[in-house]
Amino acid sequence: MVTATGMAILLLAALAILAPSAWGLDRAEFPPGFLFGAATSAYQVEGAYLEDGKGRNNWDVFTHTHSGNILDGRNGDVAADHYHRYMEDVDIMHKLGVSSYRFSISWARILPSGRLGGVNPAGIAFYNRLIAALLQNGIEPFVTLHHFDLPQELETRYGSWLGAGIREEFDYYADVCFQAFGDRVKLWTTFNEPNLFIKHAYMLGRYPPNHCSPPFGNCNSGNSQREPYVAAHNIIMSHAAAVHNYNKNYKVKQGGSIGIIIAMKFYEPLRNTTEDILAAQRAMSFEIHWFLDPIFFGEYPKEMREMLSPNLPEFTPVEKRLLQNKVDLIGINHYTTIYAKDCIYSPCNLKTYEGNALVFATGERDGVQIGKSTALAGFYDVPEGMEKILEYVNKRYGNTPIYITENGYSQHSSNNMEDTMNDIDRVNYLRGYLSSISSALRRGANVRGYFVWSLMDNFEWLFGFTVKFGLYHVDLATQKRTPRMSAGWYRDFLTGSRPVDKVQDLRADS
Ligand SMILES: *[C@@H]1O[C@H](CO)[C@@H](O)[C@H](O)[C@H]1NC(C)=O
Repeated sequence: MVTATGMAILLLAALAILAPSAWGLDRAEFPPGFLFGAATSAYQVEGAYLEDGKGRNNWDVFTHTHSGNILDGRNGDVAADHYHRYMEDVDIMHKLGVSSYRFSISWARILPSGRLGGVNPAGIAFYNRLIAALLQNGIEPFVTLHHFDLPQELETRYGSWLGAGIREEFDYYADVCFQAFGDRVKLWTTFNEPNLFIKHAYMLGRYPPNHCSPPFGNCNSGNSQREPYVAAHNIIMSHAAAVHNYNKNYKVKQGGSIGIIIAMKFYEPLRNTTEDILAAQRAMSFEIHWFLDPIFFGEYPKEMREMLSPNLPEFTPVEKRLLQNKVDLIGINHYTTIYAKDCIYSPCNLKTYEGNALVFATGERDGVQIGKSTALAGFYDVPEGMEKILEYVNKRYGNTPIYITENGYSQHSSNNMEDTMNDIDRVNYLRGYLSSISSALRRGANVRGYFVWSLMDNFEWLFGFTVKFGLYHVDLATQKRTPRMSAGWYRDFLTGSRPVDKVQDLRADS
């Protein structure tokens, strides 16, 4: 039953879609080899939580023991059941017309208890089936090795990333993956958003292993002033070890590329003052340079050294040598731009994500929002930030090829199916950000691909299933995938076709 309002919205949207050029965006603006895809991650979509020999991972254990910390109390035991429905999911990707699929490998599926426990052949077999299905459909696999989840055994043994022993574990895991899949996987990334999950895990105490200390929070253990930097150091060196191994033993034979994915907001000064301009620079430094400066220049940024010493580790000569292995690509997860306010010269709440940089981030200036709100607090629709971040990263890191590995729009879960499916705000968001990439390309940005987060609704970490990022709606009870208006829009953009076909044609069973 479609109401009159619903019809009007559909009609308006259809009219808008009928004239893609009027929307200022055409696929022809992007180079022929530019990858367009959609992204997911293992824990968020796979489900099948102890199936076929998979070990428990840190998120399995955390969501089971701390369900009260998840907004709806749910977990990823079933998630979008991608483990069983991957053929259907490859089919909907094919219908969308994407040229690539970004997914992550579940470490605990491959090595249920880490390096000492042995490889699980059924885990290898699952990803072989997925990769084969993608390649048969002309879809290039874009693989992330670590996207937040790791075997619980390693969390218990090392506190995940706090013990240096984790470096050898990651190196081994990466090697198993290069060996098993590298003949077909040509695009690798070691870590997804280490700069973000470390802060949630070791500074704010929200993600496993839930470490923190005042003023950030009161956890059972942790040290918010020191542990984030120890964990980051181990991740940077784990990354470097995997890149070294790939470059030395696989790259020539397999012909692939490797890099790392960093979460990047773009920070604008709240006021046009020296203090806030420096605050914005500091926020960028603590967010981006924290990882990319060591990876590109072998050193932490000087702002971090000045503010954090002696809590910031030093790179030993041996570590610096390992860091000389260069990455081929930078993955950027970009969703929003936000204002940075100085907290050195004026007091503010420092128990926040940017608190360690003595910066307070806000989406408002004089009561006016920087962009339209989305379902996630602090995530605003500011398309021009995309062009700015591309220019910023290209300039600082020697024009290294960039992939936008995540960009997308969150909506609240709703029982109103019309609101849920007619996601015109997501269409506007994606169109705006893609136009911004197109504009960056015209100005010479070295950007090679773009992935919408996400292909389908999934388990959104602490938000559980309360926010929806999918081009496809997933019914939690039936697991039925249904294309939203945005899926139709993306398909029309990718295929350059006029939307004579209805969104219904994007269903897996049609
Ligand atoms: C900021 O202030 C400087 C100096 O007063 C001025 O030249 C500049 O145009 C201002 N910039 C913005 C964005 O307002």
